[in-house]
Amino acid sequence: MRKVRVDLGQRSYDICIGHNILAGLAKHINSLSIGKKGAIVTNPLLNKLYGDSLSRHLSDEGYVITTIELPAGERYKTLKSVSKIYDVLIEKKFERNSFIIALGGGVIGDIAGFAAATYLRGVPYIQIPTSLLAQVDSSVGGKTGVDHALGKNLIGAFYQPVLVWIDLDVLKTLPPRELIAGMGEVVKYGVIADEQFFKFIEEHYENILSLEREALIHTIARSCEIKAMVVSSDEREKGLRAILNFGHTIGHAIETITCYKKYRHGEAVAMGMVCAARLASIIHLCSEDVSVRIERLCRLIGLKTSLPDVNFPVLRDILQRDKKVINEKVRFVLPVRLGEVKVVEDIDNNVLQEAIQLCYASDKSDK
Ligand SMILES: NC(=O)c1ccc[n+]([C@@H]2O[C@H](COP(=O)([O-])OP(=O)(O)OC[C@H]3O[C@@H](n4cnc5c(N)ncnc54)[C@H](O)[C@@H]3O)[C@@H](O)[C@H]2O)c1
Repeated sequence: MRKVRVDLGQRSYDICIGHNILAGLAKHINSLSIGKKGAIVTNPLLNKLYGDSLSRHLSDEGYVITTIELPAGERYKTLKSVSKIYDVLIEKKFERNSFIIALGGGVIGDIAGFAAATYLRGVPYIQIPTSLLAQVDSSVGGKTGVDHALGKNLIGAFYQPVLVWIDLDVLKTLPPRELIAGMGEVVKYGVIADEQFFKFIEEHYENILSLEREALIHTIARSCEIKAMVVSSDEREKGLRAILNFGHTIGHAIETITCYKKYRHGEAVAMGMVCAARLASIIHLCSEDVSVRIERLCRLIGLKTSLPDVNFPVLRDILQRDKKVINEKVRFVLPVRLGEVKVVEDIDNNVLQEAIQLCYASDKSDK
């Protein structure tokens, strides 16, 4: 088993990564200072696949487990779902040291984490991420929250888990599209922090996608190390953490325009990365080769690299409303080279339009 530490003083925790380790969680958590009463928050499919047996293993170790099933899907990432969790916790008399386990993708992780952050002003929670995206990104770093009718992730809290437990074998049941989408975030880590890792993905993307043990464990552990390093030095996104938003400025705008229905999050991030890299190359922040390699890798993985045909003024308007806008300035995270990015403000409208148009143009050559 590989361990990655997220260093946050008293709020530090381990990310444990291994094959077929789900059953081993029950013994491992005996060493955490948490109570005997716990709730597994999951969805019906994942409960059937993994929740039932996890609950049995925990019960065998003397834990009293309640399972809370929420319907699957982003549209249930709401305060109503959080409220459903509160109802059960209150009814079952959960106390301050009772714990929550988030068993699922990023949606379950974000909802269960937010419930943990707010029930009795905070109870311990464990992340068991089951999608690639959740394993390399959303389960680490303590961003929890839900959507509001007027926008995504508008309600939330920074609240760290006490443990992240990553069983690589659960990816065997993950639909291929979800696996490919998760690779968008993996590529991001190579670009923002580690050229060697980017090269590794270029050389081994087929091994990763076919879930070969060594390639997969290295990919997930390295992604988690990078995320842990960034979060440890800037937990609340006052500075460095912003680099994790590479690909997300335009990615989020694309998700908003398409009402979060057409693309998976990682797919939109890939389009955003390709567009940001083109932008960086146009303003000579990075060489054209950097932008070409990012686009090529995304394409080889099976990620769409061209933008859907969106109206530029609409896109620009949405960018202005992005959460990352400060003093009305849209902030882009742009590559300087592979392994290094920089936050850039005040991109000229015409330059942005040119980059975006190039991304439409590549769509045509895709067909
Ligand atoms: N908190 C953060 O830092 C952070 C970061 C990135 C994304 N997010 C959030 O994460 C969410 C997206 O997460 P996601 O891509 O994991 O989507 P998701 O949680 O909707 O999971 C995708 C689908 O895969 C299914 N699934 C998951 N694991 C499975 C498995 N092992 N076998 C079979 N099916 C499985 C789920 O049931 C779901 O239908 C968004 O809400 C996004 O805002 C949060």
